[in-house]
Amino acid sequence: MASSLFFSFLLLLASLLLFSRGAVSSFPNLTTLSFEEGYTQLFGDSNLMLHRDGRAVHLSLDERTGAGFASQDLYLHGFFSANIKLPSDYAAGVVVAFYMSNGDVFEKTHDELDFEFLGNIRGKEWRVQTNIYGNGSTSIGREERYGLWFDPTEDFHKYSILWSHDRIIFYIDNVPIREVVRTEAMGGQFPSKPMSLYATIWDGSNWATSGGRYKINYKYAPYIAEFADLTLHGCAVDPMDHTPTCNNLAADLYSTITVSADQRMAMERFRKKYMTYSYCYDRVRYSVPLPECSTGLEARQFQESGEARFMDRRHRHGKRHRRAPANSVI
Ligand SMILES: *[C@@H]1O[C@H](CO)[C@@H](O)[C@H](O)[C@H]1NC(C)=O
Ligand SMILES: *[C@@H]1O[C@H](CO)[C@@H](O)[C@H](O)[C@H]1NC(C)=O
Repeated sequence: MASSLFFSFLLLLASLLLFSRGAVSSFPNLTTLSFEEGYTQLFGDSNLMLHRDGRAVHLSLDERTGAGFASQDLYLHGFFSANIKLPSDYAAGVVVAFYMSNGDVFEKTHDELDFEFLGNIRGKEWRVQTNIYGNGSTSIGREERYGLWFDPTEDFHKYSILWSHDRIIFYIDNVPIREVVRTEAMGGQFPSKPMSLYATIWDGSNWATSGGRYKINYKYAPYIAEFADLTLHGCAVDPMDHTPTCNNLAADLYSTITVSADQRMAMERFRKKYMTYSYCYDRVRYSVPLPECSTGLEARQFQESGEARFMDRRHRHGKRHRRAPANSVI
């Protein structure tokens, strides 16, 4: 009894520490697994290279192949994170993806949570996209796209996904950038089956950069994406019957993580300044907004195409969006 009380105290402490900025490392079990301990290569033979005793992974893309890896285990809920540095210079058509999926296990009814980095042309910023699929809802995209307040090719930045029974939160450098709260109307479209963590690099020429306008140029290959400090803090499930192997307390931990008032302000500032597209405001695709979409103030910043109004201003005046210094608090 006493020990289980102590355990819940630890969990509470952990949940308090977990998302206070910069304190993630104080969480005792937020350890990073080496590649051999937690992951397995999916494709790309020698285009996957381990560094720092398997604590860092380089995935490269050349004419021959891209590369990718996945977690050995499936997880039902958890906190998943990596420090990522993207290929620099000209990377049009290059897609770097860091995501959760169970497409290999549930072919027709798969779930997915994505960070997708959509390449850049020289002198322009990389675009980042987040997306969610649930129970095979692949015809219903929930894309949002963003610019960043730093150059993601210059240094490592932390990209994280929290997935609990009730909500999904995407973070960049511990700033929440998107929160999806489960609603009844979403039904199975809220991911609810165990997923693995994936990282890949591949040729997305016909889709990625400005909708496929800019293709890959292998003159600049190899394109190398670097991953470090891979964190899996999830409720692992039995690979055969998918029952959780963690106890309820651990599972409940993820549900206690929410967006604090300060974090919410930072999220709103980020979205106002850097979100370039949201499916929630795209009336061409969805004449009626999907059930989890709010009709709050944010909607005013978007056109009917779902593109941000500031994008329109940018085109008209031929002005480029100024990037804030990397260390500025958004
Ligand atoms: C951390 O992991 C160890 C070993 O797996 C376990 O005994 C301990 O209870 C965990 N602590 C927390 C706070 O989850
Ligand atoms: C998921 O999809 C399958 C097949 O379309 C359906 O039978 C099932 O009820 C759905 N599950 C949920 C939770 O909506």
